[in-house]
Amino acid sequence: MEGFTTLTVADVEYDTDESALITFAEHLPFRHGQHLVLRREIEGEEVRRSYSLCSRAPNGALRIGVKRVPEGLMSTWLTREVRPGDQIEALAPSGNFTHEPATDSVERHMMIAAGSGITPIFSVMATVLAERHDAEVDLLYINRASNSTMLIDDLEDLRDAHLGRVRITYAFTRESGDAALLSGRPDRNRLEELITAGLIRADVDHAWLCGPLALVEDARAALIHHGMPSERVHFELFGTDGRAKRSVTSEARSATVVASGRATLHGRESGFEVHEGESILDAVRRVRPDTPFSCQAGVCSTCQARLLCGEIEMQVNYGLTESEIARGLVLTCQSHATGADDIVVDFDV
Ligand code: FES
Repeated sequence: MEGFTTLTVADVEYDTDESALITFAEHLPFRHGQHLVLRREIEGEEVRRSYSLCSRAPNGALRIGVKRVPEGLMSTWLTREVRPGDQIEALAPSGNFTHEPATDSVERHMMIAAGSGITPIFSVMATVLAERHDAEVDLLYINRASNSTMLIDDLEDLRDAHLGRVRITYAFTRESGDAALLSGRPDRNRLEELITAGLIRADVDHAWLCGPLALVEDARAALIHHGMPSERVHFELFGTDGRAKRSVTSEARSATVVASGRATLHGRESGFEVHEGESILDAVRRVRPDTPFSCQAGVCSTCQARLLCGEIEMQVNYGLTESEIARGLVLTCQSHATGADDIVVDFDV
């Protein structure tokens, strides 16, 4: 699909006091674990945000889960104001937090989700359980408190529908639970204790992590330390704790041009100039406002392109795998020119 398409809200379910599950009327092809980039003008400003799909079945209705963030224009609109019949623009579902379940062996999965990180995890979980009738899933689901726990009814329905194959452990950071181990901040030491207690399993075929950067980094390190191959520890981030380099505003942009190049998008090539300090995405967007992007933090991969010529350096990369980088893919929102050659990028990958 080229560019944005219009989606119509079919249903809004208020999941907790601060979150909503929004189902769209249209059916777009997607894979479990992928996300939608939504675009809307709010208070005179174009706002783009990515929300993970949390559809109930591999080919279920297109549904996203949204948790309100303080002063978040899009999340406030989606969790307080949106109504069935409202329309919003969206890019085609995208993202790499997904995989093909094996057909020749039983798959065991360990999933760790924090807060709204449950949304893509739920989608992966529903799919592996539906597609493989012998798949097993352990989920550790961390929230501030029980009343901020998203998708709890859907998770319990999933557990009931797949009795004996789903184990869910709830942990709370600001609420005392049955076990001290499941209360408080899940730092690296606590994660090690949870592995020792068997509540996090490192002897599985795949691990899936989604939440804030510190938790994902700690959980990933702990699982790898306990023998999981790194390529089987899949992760998706909801934020980078400010480590990503943000775009340079037009007022702050240096007048010095440090590189030039060509970008192909939707089959059309455009020339661009890169000013000192700005990303390739910012440079391309000046001549091609239709360039896809969302988080501008190196997480969502919406801005990915193939680098065909030139030298760049990525400030951070939380969205591309090593094999994708080896195939020449770059996150243009984090890419900065480092060489003298022209930069040639292809967004039609
Ligand atoms: S816009 Fe999200 S990774 Fe670049």
